[in-house]
Amino acid sequence: MILVTGGTGFVGAHLLYHLTKEGKQVKALKRPGSETKLTRKIFSYYAEKPDEQFNLVQWIEGDILDYHSLTDAFEGVTKLYHAAAMVSFHTGDRDKVIRINSTGTANVVNAALEKNIEKMCYVSSVGVLGRDNNKELTDEESQWKTSNKSSVYSKSKYEAEREVWRGMAEGLNAVIVNPSIVVGPGNWQAGSPQVFETLWKGLKFYTGGMNGFVDVNDLARAMILLMEGDYSGERYIISAENVSYKQFFEWMAEAMNLPAPKFKAGPFLSGIGWRMLKVLELFTGKKPGITRETARTANQVYRYSTKKFTEATGMEFIPVKESVERTAELFLKEMKE
Ligand SMILES: NC(=O)c1ccc[n+]([C@@H]2O[C@H](COP(=O)([O-])OP(=O)(O)OC[C@H]3O[C@@H](n4cnc5c(N)ncnc54)[C@H](OP(=O)(O)O)[C@@H]3O)[C@@H](O)[C@H]2O)c1
Repeated sequence: MILVTGGTGFVGAHLLYHLTKEGKQVKALKRPGSETKLTRKIFSYYAEKPDEQFNLVQWIEGDILDYHSLTDAFEGVTKLYHAAAMVSFHTGDRDKVIRINSTGTANVVNAALEKNIEKMCYVSSVGVLGRDNNKELTDEESQWKTSNKSSVYSKSKYEAEREVWRGMAEGLNAVIVNPSIVVGPGNWQAGSPQVFETLWKGLKFYTGGMNGFVDVNDLARAMILLMEGDYSGERYIISAENVSYKQFFEWMAEAMNLPAPKFKAGPFLSGIGWRMLKVLELFTGKKPGITRETARTANQVYRYSTKKFTEATGMEFIPVKESVERTAELFLKEMKE
């Protein structure tokens, strides 16, 4: 029996879709009170019989901060995919981000060891790799460097990944994926899919940076491949291409039949942007779309090598432009409904 954490979220829901498509028996951990409607929506994008396929998932209540709920949920589980995390760059979320990502992952690792789980796949991030702006390609050997420029989210993911390495030293059979920015349909008001709604609402500025991007379906396929093959004790960058934000926005604009953002927001303008939004937050209580941390990343040039994964598995990635086009089509369809 397989168990997925984070199945009500963007990546986990796509993973559940691919696992159930292959006819696998799957349990998914869900916090009490959390909804499964995003997962249902994601199944409806791809499945011939979405409801039937969705009903193959056995939902089980639990919280990665509640150790005993994990040991109960892991009963009878052989393979574990851990995709649950708090993805937030807002200052007010800092303590929660550290607790959920770092302590939560330590709990998952300890429960997996206690329950003798056969194999675990952990969804880390490229944010945990030591990255030098403008420098050579970053690969899996790049070690985390503590800096006051790192986001709390990246720090929490670094601590979480360290827990998985600790688990491996204690005998856990595990593999780690480090995805770059994941592209695909999901909640258009949160996480990486939000960028489609931001452009739709009339984004005028682009930033000068570059980053790696990968299609969410490729990420799910890569995880299943690594879990089913003879891969263990390693981490793999999962990233299709390195693309400038300007190019990414142009592809999105073209696919959505909208004008591309015309003005470049360098570090100075982005800095003004996040400060103004922070002030606005005090009045509206609404979390700003740009934070100091996202503004900083958006002006950095990060490039990743995916050689280790492609040479090991032979898997080919969907080009980012195609991934943007597919996602934009689903977004537009929903906006017209
Ligand atoms: N999206 C990206 O571009 C990207 C890039 C690199 C790495 N990643 C990694 O990929 C993973 C999935 O990200 P995502 O984009 O799918 O995020 P997401 O849509 O925000 O999903 C997060 C999931 O984690 C669950 N979760 C949060 N706190 C939990 C807790 N205490 N106990 C149990 N479940 C909890 C959420 O459940 P609720 O429904 O209860 O909130 C949700 O299912 C994360 O580890 C993230 O760091 C994402």
